[in-house]
Amino acid sequence: MLGAPVQEGTGRLGCDMGPSAFRAAGLAGALRELGHVVVDRGNLAPTSQPEVRHGNAAIKSLPEIVAWTELLAATIYDASAEGMPITLGGDHSLAAGTLSGLSRRAADLERPLFVLWLDAHPDLHTLDSTESGNLHGVPMAYATGQPGFEGIFPPLAAPLDMARICMMGIRSVDPAERARLAAGDVTVHDMRAIDEHGVAVLLRGFLEKVAAADGLLHVSLDVDFLDPDIAPGVGTTVPGGATFREAHLVMEMLHDSDLVTSLDLVELNPFLDERGRTARLIVDLVASLMGRRVLDRPTRSH
Ligand code: ARG
Ligand code: MN
Ligand code: MN
Repeated sequence: MLGAPVQEGTGRLGCDMGPSAFRAAGLAGALRELGHVVVDRGNLAPTSQPEVRHGNAAIKSLPEIVAWTELLAATIYDASAEGMPITLGGDHSLAAGTLSGLSRRAADLERPLFVLWLDAHPDLHTLDSTESGNLHGVPMAYATGQPGFEGIFPPLAAPLDMARICMMGIRSVDPAERARLAAGDVTVHDMRAIDEHGVAVLLRGFLEKVAAADGLLHVSLDVDFLDPDIAPGVGTTVPGGATFREAHLVMEMLHDSDLVTSLDLVELNPFLDERGRTARLIVDLVASLMGRRVLDRPTRSH
């Protein structure tokens, strides 16, 4: 577990309390109960900020986010050699750092990096296209090597292949992101696809691809993937999100696949939460991902 209390990517305060809330909700204990060895490395903090600027005047806190990206890229690269890094956010801008570190690890191992992006949003803005200026909206564009990050964000060992990304839960897409998704070959399962087919069929297809390619699998879980009725502790609520049961099923299937090699938990804003219920829900979801199950036998699906 690595705490990354970055909040400058959201344009509001509160995500800096995310790592504390995950700890208070019992994340480490829940994983130890399942037999895992858990090391809590505490919270990271950048020590200096680079002098960077960009012509888009809307952009907020660029030096802070670049500093976090550099720190996380190095830290997650190292941590991925020792175990399964779980990054406790912090806002989703931190995925620029985790994906950068993991792409370097994947290049070392000569294995392809796959990403399951569980989010209401694709976070595919470039520095030029973001209108809100909130840099939690850009990590996917950076990680996939879209133009305009060069000389500002750290260089990537290798850009993430769009064909190795699966997004689920998508239901809020800005025009520039829509065009980028139309041009690339990201697999996008929006809420409509989930309604029509169910999460199991959609996820199974992706997991089969990862397994066949002997890939690394990074899971980036944005709290707003979930319906705001069950997960209110987030700044960017979008109605119509994943249900409790859909989210647990995703996590249980990820556990059964034995493919997940790293995890981001992002966008939890404890200031907006209700008596810790969102933090507790995420802890329960991570427990499902890490092996908690109802019965100690395989579930029969036929
Ligand atoms: N697309 C919107 C924006 O750029 C929302 C981004 C929300 N991202 C997130 N990680 N919650 O501002
Ligand atoms: Mn996001
Ligand atoms: Mn989101």
